[in-house]
This record gives sequence, C-alpha cells and structure tokens, in this order.
Amino acid sequence: MSAQALIEQIAQLSKEAQLKIVSVQNEADLAEFTQSYAGKKSALTQVMKQLGALTPDDRSLVGKSANEYKEALQHLLTAKESELLKNKFALLKETEFVDLSINPPHYAELTTDFSESGHIHPISATQQKLESIFTSMGFTIVDGPQIENDYHNFGALNFSDDHPARDMQDTFYTQTGHLLRTHTSTIQIRALSQMKPPLRIIAPGRVFRYEEIDASHEHTFYQMEGMVVDRRVSVGNLLHLMQTLLAEVFESEVDVRLRPGYFPFVEPGFELDMKCLVCSGAGCSVCKHSGWVEVLPCGLVHPNVLKSAGLDPNEWQGAAFGLGLNRLVMMQYGIEDIRHFMGGKMSFLRQFGN
Ligand code: FA5
Repeated sequence: MSAQALIEQIAQLSKEAQLKIVSVQNEADLAEFTQSYAGKKSALTQVMKQLGALTPDDRSLVGKSANEYKEALQHLLTAKESELLKNKFALLKETEFVDLSINPPHYAELTTDFSESGHIHPISATQQKLESIFTSMGFTIVDGPQIENDYHNFGALNFSDDHPARDMQDTFYTQTGHLLRTHTSTIQIRALSQMKPPLRIIAPGRVFRYEEIDASHEHTFYQMEGMVVDRRVSVGNLLHLMQTLLAEVFESEVDVRLRPGYFPFVEPGFELDMKCLVCSGAGCSVCKHSGWVEVLPCGLVHPNVLKSAGLDPNEWQGAAFGLGLNRLVMMQYGIEDIRHFMGGKMSFLRQFGN
C-alpha cells in the first residue's frame, strides 16, 4: 500500500475514534476502546506493520502522521478518563449519602428507646468545668502540640541531658528524634516564649508515657497545667489556687496533704495528694494501699526556667501546677480503675449521661 493510502487510513481511524469515544460510558467501554484504537491488535498496528515496505522518506511521512494520531488519541483518553471519574464520584454522592439523623432500620429492630443520645466524656466534662472556673479568674486557655521536641519537654524545663528525673517520664520517640509529650508542662515553655508577663494560663491536654499499666497508671492520659507569672507570686498564692480548684470540682471539703516533691522546673516543689475517695482512705489498688492519691503536683517556677525564657528572676516570679485529670475524675466519681476511661465500654460511659 502507498504512503498516501496509509496516511488516509490513519486519518480515517482518527475520525472513527473521535466518533466512537462519545459512546464510551464506563471503564469497560474505555478498555475496549483503547484496545481497538491503540492496542496490539488495533488497526494502527496493521498500518505500522506496512512501514517496512516503504522508502525512508515515505516511512517518515507515515510515521509522523501515526504519531499525531497517537497524540490525539491520548488526549481523547485522558479527557474521557476524567469525565468517567467525575461521573463516578457524582454517582457515589447520590447513592452512598448517609443521613445520620435517621435511625437505621436494624437499630429500630434492636431498640425502641430512641431517647438515648450521646454525651460528654467524664474527663471532658471536668476539663470544661475547670476551664470555666479558671477563665472566670482571668486565666487564658492555651494549647500545644502532642508531638514535641526534647527542648520543650525536658531541656527548657531544667532537665539536663543526663538528669535522672528524665527516667521518671519515659516516653515514645519518633525516628526524627521527636517524642510524645510526657506532660503539659511543655506548654509553660511555649506560653513563656509567646506571651508577655504578667500572665495566667491553663493548658489541658493529652499526654503519653511509657508506663507499667495498672489501676492508676495509663500510657495515655490527661493533665491540666496551670501557671501564673507576676512580679510577686508566693506559695500562699499557689495553695489558694489549688484550694479553689478542688473546692469547685468537689463542691465540698476534701482531705488533702501537701508534701515536698521534686521536679527540676520548680523550687520549692510539692506533691498535693488527696485522700483516696475510692476506698475512703482504707487502702485499695488505686492508692496502692496508702490511702492517698497523687493528683496535683505544683511549685514555684524555677529561676532557670524563667531565665531560659529571657525573664529576669529578680523581677518575675511564677507558680505552676500539673493536675492529673484522670485521677481527679476517678476521685470525683469513685472510679476504681483508670483503664475504664479508654476501655470503650458503653456500660461504663452511660453512667455519665444526663
Ligand atoms: C508532672 O507531670 C509535672 N509536669 C507536674 C508539675 C507541673 C509539677 C507544674 C510542678 C509544676 P507527674 O509526673 O507527677 O508530674 O504527673 C502529674 C500528675 O499526672 C500526677 O500527679 C498524676 O495525677 C498524673 N499522672 C502521672 N502519671 C500518670 C499515669 N501514668 N497515668 C495517669 N495519671 C498519671
């Protein structure tokens, strides 16, 4: 066949493809179309087989026209693919739309009580209550990342690289050297670097530790940090804050004891323990049979922490606390095992509905 005849055949093929693609409705049609117009057994392949019999000049003429054909075909295919994809998603939107406000039929068979609705988790409820108490006292609620760097979790909090206190808060590290924060004290550092004193903040949040799990220890739990920085801050101010916090949450007097506690970022530091309300102090697995539960460590901000934030410790003073929210809620409701909070058992959670 002559070069001219082959070029005409290609032009004919191109016209045919342009007409045919209009009738392609789905992926199967598209696969068939591709096979017919560009596949190994397509008419184009038959044309290409005849190239060998042509002179070099004719071969390049026919080859040029075949390439133009392939290019045009590729445009048709790409446009059709995106059209099919668009249609597919439009259809999914129609057919897979879920109306969450309707009870599914099988649910209707299981229960006739449609009055049961979701409610706030007890930890969130207590956190919200505390947020409202503290904001009414002029505190700002601040937040920080759960994946932290060593500087915010340890370094700026006066834990030197080889300080043994790091062992008390082992955690999970990423391959990039980041870590899951072990406490909300990281947010003290972030607040100090971003806000100007005088300042009052609370920072509730999720924290993580590499921990031996038991009735009062979780690997993932909640804390609420509190910090006041002003020209004059005393242990008396700190204790007043703690008392206000506990009185508002428990709405009655609770037995507490204050004892010295060591944290590199406070001086002096204290542990505030509550008489265990699960066993009324008689001894149980929550209080490790001591009758007391650690809930509220606190202290005056260490001068080194103020210095690392660029503040002069002779001019500014600070007080801080780190409330263990899970344990506080355990005391509030007499919950005998911390693992219930994340256990996902509906029978446990339902008790806190309204
Ligand atoms: C700290 O995390 C300090 N950042 C607290 C602090 C802040 C001290 C500001 C001074 C000034 P500690 O490791 O003790 O301290 O944890 C604080 C509270 O979190 C504990 O009292 C306890 O209530 C709770 N907690 C600690 N570890 C766990 C755990 N594994 N599971 C559940 N609650 C825990």
